[in-house]
Formats: sequence, C-alpha cells, structure tokens
Amino acid sequence: MPPVPGPDRSPNPTSPASSAPAMTLVLPTYNERGNLAEAIARAAKVLDGIDWEIIVVDDDSPDGTADLAKEIGAKDHRVRCIRRVGRRGLAGACIEGMLASANPIVAVMDADLQHDEALLPKMYAAVAGGTADLAIGSRFAEGAEIQGLSSNRKVASGIANTMVRALLGVSLKDPMSGFFMVRREIVEEAAPKLSNQGFKILIDLIASSPRKLKVVEMPFVFRERMSGESKLDALVTLEFAGLLVSKMLGGIVSIRFLLFGLVGLSGVVVHLTTLRLGITLGRLPFDTAQTVATFVAMTWNFFLNNGLTYRDRRLKGWRLWRGLASFYLVCGVGVVANVGVAGWLNSMDQVWWLAGTAGALVGSVWNYAASAALTWRSR
Ligand code: GDD
Ligand code: MN
Repeated sequence: MPPVPGPDRSPNPTSPASSAPAMTLVLPTYNERGNLAEAIARAAKVLDGIDWEIIVVDDDSPDGTADLAKEIGAKDHRVRCIRRVGRRGLAGACIEGMLASANPIVAVMDADLQHDEALLPKMYAAVAGGTADLAIGSRFAEGAEIQGLSSNRKVASGIANTMVRALLGVSLKDPMSGFFMVRREIVEEAAPKLSNQGFKILIDLIASSPRKLKVVEMPFVFRERMSGESKLDALVTLEFAGLLVSKMLGGIVSIRFLLFGLVGLSGVVVHLTTLRLGITLGRLPFDTAQTVATFVAMTWNFFLNNGLTYRDRRLKGWRLWRGLASFYLVCGVGVVANVGVAGWLNSMDQVWWLAGTAGALVGSVWNYAASAALTWRSR
C-alpha cells in the first residue's frame, strides 16, 4: 500500500506550519442569518494561530442562512456549509457536522452569539494538550453567569440539570451545555448510539461513550442572543424527558417509540372520553359511538405524532392529508392484530388482562413500525 501522505501545510499561508492538531468548529444554524457572519468573524479572530475550519450545518432555514454561509465559504475556504433538506434537529445537525470533519479535534458552538467564543482557545489548549478529552463551556460552573435566559428558562434549566445529574450520575455542573470541544475519536466511537432527536447532544455523548472521559468545565457568560429567537420550546423539553428515559432503559427503546407510546396513551383517554360523551350527550348507540371515538382518537394520535413524535419530519400541505389516510389504514390493521393476538391468547386460557395487554402491545408495535414506514417515512 502506498503511504498516506501527511497534511501538506507548507504552501498554505492560512494554516500555521506546526504539528498542532487541526480543529473543526461546528455551527448549527436554523434562521441565523442575522448572526452567522458575526459569529464566524469572531471565531476566526480568536482562533488565529490555530489550524481551524468551520462547518455550518443548516437545516434549510427559510431565511437563507445556508446561502450566506456559502457566500462566506466562497471567499474563505476554511468555511463550509452542509445544507440539510427535509430534516430538523439540533442534535442531529451537530453530530453530522462533527462526523463530516477529518480533524482530530471538533467543537460545537451556537451561532447566535450567546456562547463566548473567547473560550475556544482555552478549550483547544486543554484538549490538544491532553489535559482533557472533552472541554465544556459551562453556564453553571463557578464564575459563570447567565444573561441570556428568561427567569422561567433559568428555573427550568436548573431543574433539568439537577434531574440529569441525579439520573445519569454525572457530577457536571452544566451537562446540558451546547458549547464544547472534544477529540473527534470519541464522537466517532459514540456515533452509532447517539440520538438525532432533540437538543441534548452533550449529555448523550457522555452517556453513550464507552470509556471514562477526562472532562473539564470552563465557566463563561451566557450572553443575550444578537438577533432572531430561540428554537427551544416545550416540545423540546418533552423530547428531552424521552431521551432520559431512553438512556435509563439502556437505549433499547428509542425516544420516538416512547413518544409514540405516550401519544397512544393520551389517545386511549380521548377515545374513552369521546365514547362516553357520544353515549350520554349524543345518545348514540354503542357501535356508532365506538366508531366515532375510534376516528377521533386516531385523528388525535395522528396530529400529536405529527407535531411531536415526528416533528423533525412533520408532514405539511397535501402530504398531511395523505399521511392521515395512511395512518387510518395502519391503525385499522393494528386493531385486527391487537384483537387477533388478544383473542388467541385468551382462547389458550391465559388471564384476560394479560391477553388484553399483549394484544395492545402487539398493536402498538405494529402501528409504530408501519406508520414509521408508511406515514412518516423519511424522504
Ligand atoms: N441545524 C439546526 N437545526 N440548528 C438548530 C436547530 C435545528 O433544528 N435548532 C436550533 N439550532 C441552532 C440555532 O440556530 C443556534 O445556533 C443553536 O442551535 C442554539 O439554538 P437556540 O434556539 O438559540 O437555543 P437556546 O439558546 O434556546 O438554547 C441554549 O441552551 C440549551 C440548554 O438549555 C443552547 O445553548 C443549546 O445548545 C443548549 O442545549
Ligand atoms: Mn440561543
């Protein structure tokens, strides 16, 4: 085999002629047109002397953030952009960016200027120097300060932090930070286990890593956003709860399945409520009320799943109605499977509730798998 040539640094005036490891900074963006240029300029300034590149991972922002990133990249080849079409999600964007790097060190920073770029050289010194595998920009470590969070978010963030520390047994002050630098090898190792959904990439990375990591936390001041607004909403929080449970169960069930199950449970409540109202208020015969309740519950489940479980693949326009029709179809078959299995077990002299539960479980697994393949298949 011919030897693999080492990186050629000699004729390139932008990269210093040293053997210091190169670093990739990932900037995830969704509608950050007003912030991106400034974020890149500030990072470039503090990273002077380090062999760096920036990868902007944009989820096809309607405001044209990707165009802007590519305009900047056309002038400075150290800046690249991955434009992801038909997908959403901060964690997935960060993972994709880090995995697109060939450099030994990778970092993630928000593109809205809330993270203090002055920390980057310090993180680099720690990771490149071997003091740490992972350096975290911490909003809660001694000396840190939070300016850019509403008081509600501060409280929510504090509670979530405590929960994470207790549940996952981590002693970090800010396991939910979106600002960190790490040896790429660690990301590559953990990658098959990482969840693409939600916001919490760092905690997932730590929980999924097969080895014990040397971690340092560095305090910084979490600033106000320069322009635009936050994309973190109540749904993200729920998704995060799903991530915690999924990790506690050792990753055997996905967040998506948990959310799907949760939506299904709420559907049962909706079904029973509609049935009761149909019989009492509507004076409908049982069969009619049951049919109406079934459709109401299926419709309820569909819209909740579309908004929550599959928010990253949310169906819109005519796809929404086609999706609803396919969901009715899937659930129809699910009912047959459910009743079939339950009836069969019951006829084999099993306890009625065991038979019923098994039937419901088989039905849900079917609904989940079939709707993933038919209704919300990734484009
Ligand atoms: N590609 C992509 N896709 N980027 C996204 C998405 C998405 O779906 N959602 C958000 N981003 C980008 C934003 O454009 C921004 O650069 C960064 O991710 C952070 O998003 P914000 O919406 O500004 O998050 P925040 O400031 O409310 O949340 C902060 O605190 C969280 C912990 O409480 C961030 O620092 C998070 O990273 C952190 O997890
Ligand atoms: Mn932000």
